Amino acid sequence: MNANVRPETMQRITTKELADEFIAKQIEDVRAQVGDKKVLLALSGGVDSSVVAALLIKAIGKQLVCVHVNHGLMRKGESEQVIEVFGKELDANLIYIDATDRFLDLLKDVAEPEKKRKIIGGEFIKVFDEEAAKLEGIDFLAQGTIYPDILESDGVKAHHNVGGLPEDMEMELVEPVKLLYKDEVRVVGSALGLPDEMVYRQPFPGPGLGVRCLGAITRDRLHALREADAILREEFDKCGLAGKVWQYFIAVPDLKSVGVRNDKRYEGWPAIIRAVNTTDAMTATIEEIPYDVLHKITARITAEVEGINRVLLDLTPKPVGTIEWE
Ligand code: XMP
Repeated sequence: MNANVRPETMQRITTKELADEFIAKQIEDVRAQVGDKKVLLALSGGVDSSVVAALLIKAIGKQLVCVHVNHGLMRKGESEQVIEVFGKELDANLIYIDATDRFLDLLKDVAEPEKKRKIIGGEFIKVFDEEAAKLEGIDFLAQGTIYPDILESDGVKAHHNVGGLPEDMEMELVEPVKLLYKDEVRVVGSALGLPDEMVYRQPFPGPGLGVRCLGAITRDRLHALREADAILREEFDKCGLAGKVWQYFIAVPDLKSVGVRNDKRYEGWPAIIRAVNTTDAMTATIEEIPYDVLHKITARITAEVEGINRVLLDLTPKPVGTIEWE
């Protein structure tokens, strides 16, 4: 039997009971596979790696070493949440690396999207590799591979995710959710007690805000983007759109226009709102946002975020516009 093929008899995990059964079985299997050895996991804070971390903490506790690399391109509060949930609440063996300066220094003056992606992906592997080299006696590498990753092995995750790890790492893989679909991973995550915010997190590209801070990234514009994005998420939560829209975020281009603030000329960047619905990310439609919500978001972003003086709405479906701006 091929371990990478989901048996036809495998029931879809839709309830807490089924999730608990799955978790109990995985705990047994992981313990049998790993014994008293150590397991390393790159914990991005995304749904898949978070669920794997929570599952492995249950199965093998401190034998799991989680490494969270903050590349400085996370959304507001994300790395803090990883530290809070895994470092504190679940008492994991967590190594937190703030590599912000390394990434932003390398990205300085680089405007070309593919080049930015390559730098971020390459540096991620380097940082993770350096950390792994410092650790001793690690025999296993855990990964948040899920079934769609196996089915579309040249899909989104495989070809442009930052989490790709060095091929020469000689470690046996531990992939406890590799036969699950995304909705099942979420049910398992909830059953493991992870917060909804983590379990129902929107898809977020590996290169993070790097693909939304357009052109050459500067710290001030990246900061403005992060703050504006946090306001958008907050307002979508408040008005109930968060549960209806598949992906929503802000992009900030490297472009200034003239404005006025406190009776003075105020040059700033525009914040572009992108809010789309899709089932497979291959095509996407535009979600309507009520005008009162748009006005509120605009008022807050222009008043609260240093450097932003306009708010724009992207009405372009995919095709022809991709979801990200890059
Ligand atoms: P595009 O912009 O191609 O994006 O319409 C389609 C979906 O893929 C997400 N995306 C990524 N996801 N790693 C990921 O895991 C990445 O590097 C990456 N780049 C884009 C994007 O957010 C959208 O949901």
